[in-house]
Amino acid sequence: MLSRAALSSSRTLVPALGALGSRQKHSLPDLPYDYGALEPHINAQIMQLHHSKHHATYVNNLNVLEERYREALEKGDVTTQVALQPGLKFNGGGHINHSIFWTNLSPKGGGEPKGLIPLLGIDVWEHAYYLQYKNVRPDYLKAIWNVINWENVTERYMACKK
Ligand SMILES: [Fe+2]
Repeated sequence: MLSRAALSSSRTLVPALGALGSRQKHSLPDLPYDYGALEPHINAQIMQLHHSKHHATYVNNLNVLEERYREALEKGDVTTQVALQPGLKFNGGGHINHSIFWTNLSPKGGGEPKGLIPLLGIDVWEHAYYLQYKNVRPDYLKAIWNVINWENVTERYMACKK
């Protein structure tokens, strides 16, 4: 679950979405920083699990489901096509939301937004904070502002306005 003030699509996401209609497989994007780069606000263990396990699972599931969907399309199996749709939405959304989330964070983040209404997603699933903050989600939500990449948020806002 991503709690978001708003979320924009941007040109950087077009390749991810474009793969839905082709035989191209989705792949896990590299983080633009090391797993430990957001410490002490988000520790390396969380970042590693979150990226290499949780996000990777969305990507893998999406690829499997898309393959099954293509087979169902070829067979004209509408019942299977319909049955696969919730999983496609869930895993496709998870892949896109996490791809945005990583770029909304930066070791050089923090500070204040630059006078714009932010387009920012913050992951509030327990896997995003529990290992470090346990059940105290408000502390995670306080700390994360130290690593928000306002430059990226501003870029997304500007791309959305065009
Ligand atoms: Fe997540």
